[in-house]
Amino acid sequence: MSDDQRKIGITQPRQLRYYEWSLATGWTMVIAVLLAINFYHEKSQALETARTQARSNYQRDVIYRHWNAENAAVYVPITKDTQPNPYLADLPERDVITTQGKKLTLINPSYMTRLVFEMAAQSYGVKGHLTSLNPIRPKNLPDVWETAALKAFSGGSQEVSSVEKMVDGSYLRLMKPLKTDKDCLKCHRKQGYQVGEIRGGLSVAVPMEPLWVIARQNNILNSASFIVLWSIGLTSIFVGATRLRRTIRERDVAEREIIDLNQVLLTRAKELEAANRELDAFCSTVSHDLRAPLVSIVGFCQRILKTPADNHLDTCERYTGIILESAHKMEKLITTLLKFARITRDELTRTSVDLHGIADEISKEIEMNEPRRRAIFTIAADMTVNGDEALLRVVMQNLLGNAWKYTSKCAETLIEVGVTERDGKTVYFVRDNGIGFDNSQSEKMFEAFQRFANADEFEGTGIGLATVKRIITRHGGQIACDGEVGKGATFYFSL
Ligand code: HEC
Repeated sequence: MSDDQRKIGITQPRQLRYYEWSLATGWTMVIAVLLAINFYHEKSQALETARTQARSNYQRDVIYRHWNAENAAVYVPITKDTQPNPYLADLPERDVITTQGKKLTLINPSYMTRLVFEMAAQSYGVKGHLTSLNPIRPKNLPDVWETAALKAFSGGSQEVSSVEKMVDGSYLRLMKPLKTDKDCLKCHRKQGYQVGEIRGGLSVAVPMEPLWVIARQNNILNSASFIVLWSIGLTSIFVGATRLRRTIRERDVAEREIIDLNQVLLTRAKELEAANRELDAFCSTVSHDLRAPLVSIVGFCQRILKTPADNHLDTCERYTGIILESAHKMEKLITTLLKFARITRDELTRTSVDLHGIADEISKEIEMNEPRRRAIFTIAADMTVNGDEALLRVVMQNLLGNAWKYTSKCAETLIEVGVTERDGKTVYFVRDNGIGFDNSQSEKMFEAFQRFANADEFEGTGIGLATVKRIITRHGGQIACDGEVGKGATFYFSL
């Protein structure tokens, strides 16, 4: 795998997934925090509303109480609900009778407040209570919460408020101190109060339930919009990431294609190099192998010209023989070269080919050409392959021909054609027990016109194995060889 390939397709998607999830988590957290802030805001809003309501109640009460105190006496007709205040019994003019004979009674601020509070509680649920740590009327005693608030006022507090559970639900309770002024002293002087002193406190309780209902409705609405926002965000993140991933994948594929293409070009370049090397070798053969017979032809022609007339005929006959032999050699060489060239060019025609049959035929032909040699041919049965019959015949001719050639000095010739497995692939082989070759040279074996030191004494053009390789490669197969000097050689090929 090249560096380029390693870079592609491994790091980015994993990083992208990490970013994607971090972004989604971050977004969820932002939404959650915003929603929490919203809930908190709704709650404090409800409380603030209740507090404002309580304060305005308090202020109104204080104002009409002052109005009452200022006038020192507010008379109302005596009814079933408005009875004379027993705590004012010592006042000489508590009850009066108008000139028309109507009975009126004096209403002090505290009494009036109580009467108004009763009405308020019935009509809009707001409760009020006038109280003191030291009440004239025992029923004006503070409850636990009010006692704490009254004590806080003596400590300097101006207002105390909190949400409290009361018998009929939760209320915002707010309490402020009531200070004594000179009007109050008209009735409260005898208890020892002085101007500015805290006479008691007025507590107001506003029911929270209606406000909580509003807050809850707002919360539901806000949650819904936040959920929509959250989903839009998440969808965008995931859709974006998916698109990005697709783009990356497409880019990877494109890059991989380029790499593959480069690989192909590289192989092509190597093939061209090999072809060039072959061409080089070809040229050197043309200059060496073709020149050798030519030189001899020229040499002997010159000798014929220089031969004295007396023994001219005899010598000429001998020389002409040599010249002809050289010419034959040249012709053979040229024919082989032409064949090799054709193999490189012609189209393949693939059919089912019986390798066993071909090997058998060729072995018999070879034996017939040299009937004096004895050899044992072992040819495996059932070797049917798919390929170009004519070209595969050339392969077998060359391999068996070589095997035959290089075993000519052996006492007993053993040639085997078979099929086996190499690296999990089916390969066919031709094995002999001839002179073999140096295994370190096995790479060079298949280059055109390469001949080995120990092969010098054998006839050959050096083109046979190059032809074989060319044919096998054109079939999409591979060829390899294995040998040891003096112990024989094996040629493997796959198709
Ligand atoms: C006309 C006489 C009168 C005046 C004026 C008056 N009060 Fe009272 N006040 C009373 C009486 C009587 C009570 C006790 C009975 C009741 O609750 O009605 C009382 C009760 C109270 C209480 C309730 C605690 C308790 O002692 O029972 C507070 C608090 C109070 N007054 C504050 C004031 C303040 C502050 C002023 C001045 C703005 C004031 N009053 C003016 C007659 C008066």
